[in-house]
Amino acid sequence: MHDPASDALLLPFISGQVAWPAAPALFLRAREGMALRAHAPRTLACEQGFRPAFDALRRAGFSAHAPGEAGAGDPHPLVLLLPPRQRDEARALFADAFRRVAPGGTVVAAMANDAGAKSGQADFEALFGTAAVASKHKCRVFRAVRGERADASLAQRWAELDAPRPILDGRFTSRPGVFAWDRIDAASALLAAHLPETLSGHAADLGAGWGYLSHEVLSRCAGISALDVVEAEARALDCARANLAPFGGRVALDFQWRDVTSGLSRRYDVIVTNPPFHALRGDTRPDIGRAFIAAAADALVPGGALWLVANRQLPYEEVLDARFASVRIVAQRDGFKVVEAVKAR
Ligand SMILES: C[S@@+](CC[C@H](N)C(=O)[O-])C[C@H]1O[C@@H](n2cnc3c(N)ncnc32)[C@H](O)[C@@H]1O
Repeated sequence: MHDPASDALLLPFISGQVAWPAAPALFLRAREGMALRAHAPRTLACEQGFRPAFDALRRAGFSAHAPGEAGAGDPHPLVLLLPPRQRDEARALFADAFRRVAPGGTVVAAMANDAGAKSGQADFEALFGTAAVASKHKCRVFRAVRGERADASLAQRWAELDAPRPILDGRFTSRPGVFAWDRIDAASALLAAHLPETLSGHAADLGAGWGYLSHEVLSRCAGISALDVVEAEARALDCARANLAPFGGRVALDFQWRDVTSGLSRRYDVIVTNPPFHALRGDTRPDIGRAFIAAAADALVPGGALWLVANRQLPYEEVLDARFASVRIVAQRDGFKVVEAVKAR
């Protein structure tokens, strides 16, 4: 699939304005794309915490590691990055690039115009000084050398901007950039309110985010003996670990950094989910939710139940009817629907 920001990022290399160094370069929030495959050396050290993007990099032959995992050693003569839309998270990523590029090394970033390129460039320049800028594919590419004009104290302050912190009066831990990071999502709250207390056995929460739904399952359903917390975004999964730790003594918890659309690892009695309906770049993707439903249908034991919440207009009925013996709309409110789907015995 076309990834304009990832393709734009390679422009300075394709035009010869920036050369690949002999030592490995680092690519933060790396995403593979046509230009990367065609023009980047496979020695590029790619860092990516979103599992589907991580898997795609590996499939394309790049060495990928999750943030925090040992990758190629710092510092690097060249750091590339694809900053996210959320501004605090993007600033923290700029600070991370600052920390990991060698003095005199080059930093190159690309952002789509409709994903905050203008403010991203302003932040980048506050940190590194004036950037060389190019535009293509409705994206901006900006680059600078970490030199005299770099602001180390600003980098230090920005490094903290996406750190995990208490939210909602200290009841939970979360961080900028994860789904509904500082609030309880209304759809998940609706699902939680309709979960029967009688749910029991081994459960999974697919796309668990910072762990709100998992927390509600464990608080409301005393018969749940084990819960697999499945999430593609490593930054969110870390928060879920912190939020669910108090249940660790009573229930077997397994935290899985996994792409649900590529299937699940075991069978479950109960699955809850508020599936994603957007891809990494923000486009609406009902196929991802359908793949979540199909993965749940494959993984549930006979008679096992899927509890799902979704925007009312999302077209999930066909796959639900095809894969489950009974499908019941339990509630509809504020544009959302809560569905119970039970697998044939
Ligand atoms: C609508 S949010 C729900 C989050 C959480 N359950 C809640 O109630 O706040 C969907 C979650 O699915 C995750 N996600 C997206 N694609 C995924 C995939 N392919 N596999 C696993 N999780 C994914 C997102 O990172 C996000 O946390």
